[in-house]
Amino acid sequence: MSDLALTILSALDKTGQIVDSRKAFPDVPSEQIQAAVTSLAAKSMVTYKTEEKDLWVLTAEAEDIVANGSHEMRLFEEVVKSLEGLKIADVGKVLGASGKLGQQRAFKNGWVKKDGDKLVKGVEAKPEDTTAEELKTIKETGTLADAKELADLKKRKLVTKTKLISFEIAKGPEFALTIKKLETDLTIDMVQSGAWKTAEFKPYNFAAEGTNPLAGALHPLNKVREEFRQIFFSMGFTEMPTAQYVDSGFWNFDALFVPQQHPARDLQDTFYLKDPVVADEPEDKTYWKNVRAAHEGGAYDSLGYRYPWKAEESKRLVLRTHTTAISGAMLHKLAQDPKPARYFSIDRVFRNEAVDATHLAEFHQVEGVVADYNLTLGDLIGFMERFFAKMGVHELRFKAAYNPYTEPSMEIFGWHQGLGKWVEIGNSGMFRPEMLEAMGLPKDMRVHGWGLSLERPTMIKYGVSNIRELLGHKVSLDFIESNPAVRLDEDLV
Ligand code: PHE
Repeated sequence: MSDLALTILSALDKTGQIVDSRKAFPDVPSEQIQAAVTSLAAKSMVTYKTEEKDLWVLTAEAEDIVANGSHEMRLFEEVVKSLEGLKIADVGKVLGASGKLGQQRAFKNGWVKKDGDKLVKGVEAKPEDTTAEELKTIKETGTLADAKELADLKKRKLVTKTKLISFEIAKGPEFALTIKKLETDLTIDMVQSGAWKTAEFKPYNFAAEGTNPLAGALHPLNKVREEFRQIFFSMGFTEMPTAQYVDSGFWNFDALFVPQQHPARDLQDTFYLKDPVVADEPEDKTYWKNVRAAHEGGAYDSLGYRYPWKAEESKRLVLRTHTTAISGAMLHKLAQDPKPARYFSIDRVFRNEAVDATHLAEFHQVEGVVADYNLTLGDLIGFMERFFAKMGVHELRFKAAYNPYTEPSMEIFGWHQGLGKWVEIGNSGMFRPEMLEAMGLPKDMRVHGWGLSLERPTMIKYGVSNIRELLGHKVSLDFIESNPAVRLDEDLV
């Protein structure tokens, strides 16, 4: 226990009460008083009240004014001294930097006036130096009754404000002149020796904040992913097995009716594997043939793309560019035993894109597909409205778009309440018959699907504007550890 605490106790013993700790201990910084007083109060030895006051202090310039008079008074006295009047050109020479300031104010006060190129007296008697007087008052009392004058002095940079903390301290129920060391733990020794019977224990401080336990933390992306999963489960979806980053061009593109010369398949957009370069042919040879026919010559009432389809291109291995590669494979499986189904996935995809503040070469897609008989575009729109309402987005707009595998296709925009603007939130469409019928799904079974990025809503929720703060080596672990979980349908702040 500090000497200061003992000093406080003995002062209390003499005077019964310390009304103003600053007056009682003028040289002790208030933080030290506070530390001593709170620790004494924790032992109920004292009680205290904190008082905060504004304190005005003089700047160096103001101290100079208190000692030597205001600039305007110095100028006035110079003018009085020079019987012939003070040449305006000489003001700076005689009074230095203070001269110009003094001249302005002395004019304003009417203390001096111009006579040709000279300054002469404007008043007969020596005026009162109010600036110096007011500053003297502030120096003594820490404040000035006239608030307007005080504000003016502050504007003139003659005074600055600080906070003054002082304590009113009184004796507490456990007041004593010495400080007992209270036990904080009941030890085996105390139990064995019986010392516990007389020991005094420090009371629990239930207001103290505990230290944060060191523990793992879910990444914000995983927190938001979990929210999406719950939304999907609540709507009767099952999760697709997406645990594979590599897929063949067949599943990533051909099966989805993306022609082999489509720009998305260029090296600039897609990462191709070097080793191994190609995959095996799909086991379902009929399907393999159907896809080829749909592309090459046309099938299922479609003209096709009419180009020579190459098996080699289809077998090339890629880092999947969208999770729709998995959705296609799942629908192909569904075609063995067609019935209404709802599938979703949330996983990583890769695109050979220029990296900037909002794009990386890999990101996560949230994707859903719904298969049912005779679904219409209206069903898709209605479904989107229900789905995004669960995320807290209640107003949607759709814009016609193009995907090789869906027709019609729509970009989805949502009104974001928190940001107060329309934001693009996803891409959607009705899968094409060229894709579905090649799998063997019945003609009247329609499938609609949609996809969005997981990063976008996560960045919006956590207020992150640069994706590198969310993913990669620049991420602050502190940011990951201290972030709360989010509810998608509620604003974070
Ligand atoms: N695969 C699309 C994308 O990459 C999303 C999508 C999924 C669109 C399903 C329509 C249907 O953005």
